[in-house]
Amino acid sequence: MAMVAQLRNVIAHVYRSGERVIRENLHLYDPESKLIADSQRYWNRTDRSCIPGNAHWRGNGVFAGDDARWLAMGRHNLAQFARLAGPAYLRTPRRIVDWGCGGGANAVHFAPGAARYYGVDITAASLRECHRQLQALACEAFVPVQFEADQPEHALEHIPKACDLFFSTYVFEIFPTKEYGSRVLNIASKLLTNDGLAFIQIRYDDGTSASQPHRWGYAQNLPHMTTYRIEEFWQNAEQCGFTPQLVTLERQQAVELGERYAYFLLKKS
Ligand SMILES: C[S@@+](CC[C@H](N)C(=O)[O-])C[C@H]1O[C@@H](n2cnc3c(N)ncnc32)[C@H](O)[C@@H]1O
Repeated sequence: MAMVAQLRNVIAHVYRSGERVIRENLHLYDPESKLIADSQRYWNRTDRSCIPGNAHWRGNGVFAGDDARWLAMGRHNLAQFARLAGPAYLRTPRRIVDWGCGGGANAVHFAPGAARYYGVDITAASLRECHRQLQALACEAFVPVQFEADQPEHALEHIPKACDLFFSTYVFEIFPTKEYGSRVLNIASKLLTNDGLAFIQIRYDDGTSASQPHRWGYAQNLPHMTTYRIEEFWQNAEQCGFTPQLVTLERQQAVELGERYAYFLLKKS
């Protein structure tokens, strides 16, 4: 039985690699509208066992039985933010937007002490889970904001345009396209006060074929859907109303076990 399973895995791997070569060479990409619809469908399926884990819900997926890892992931993001923006920044109560908040792995570290904490997501179940985690900490700052994936601009109707910090981790890589990422950067710029900050994590393209954005097969290629060259994301941020301040790279991440992450600190210009 084990040999049959192994053989099936090898065949599936060869098939997927072959499909990728053909699609990349013939430019057989999915249209953006399909990728956006597929992303909404994918993240809505919180009844499937893998989705809550992928949305970083506590005690699910790779975090099942490993609460220390779940807590370490958000703590690590907070430490990277403090490194780039300075440790004093969050000592003042801030109005914070957490774009793609998932199950609250960042919220439990960033929200206590916040003046308002807007958790933004395309999935109601993730917003409920994030809220639940913050209620357990008696944190009252949470405001859930849900929108449909094809209408990210709708978030602008629910969040006052006077936020201090916009941040997003493990989300830009699952956006359908780079153009979609620019839409979200434009929204971020509109939501921030004039001296507002954005703290954004991306997956970067280092020129190897494995690090290229996929642009097809949303569910199957999820963690590599959208990647950027470092200077490309820097320029995109400038075009969307930001002055990049600092960037730090993580070739290999200990907590999420992913490769090629970059954290950008951007200032609204
Ligand atoms: C990998 S989880 C990351 C969760 C959280 N940011 C973290 O660092 O733990 C991705 C989350 O992004 C949400 N999401 C997917 N597409 C989105 C979009 N277009 N805008 C906002 N959130 C999105 C998913 O529903 C999911 O909750």
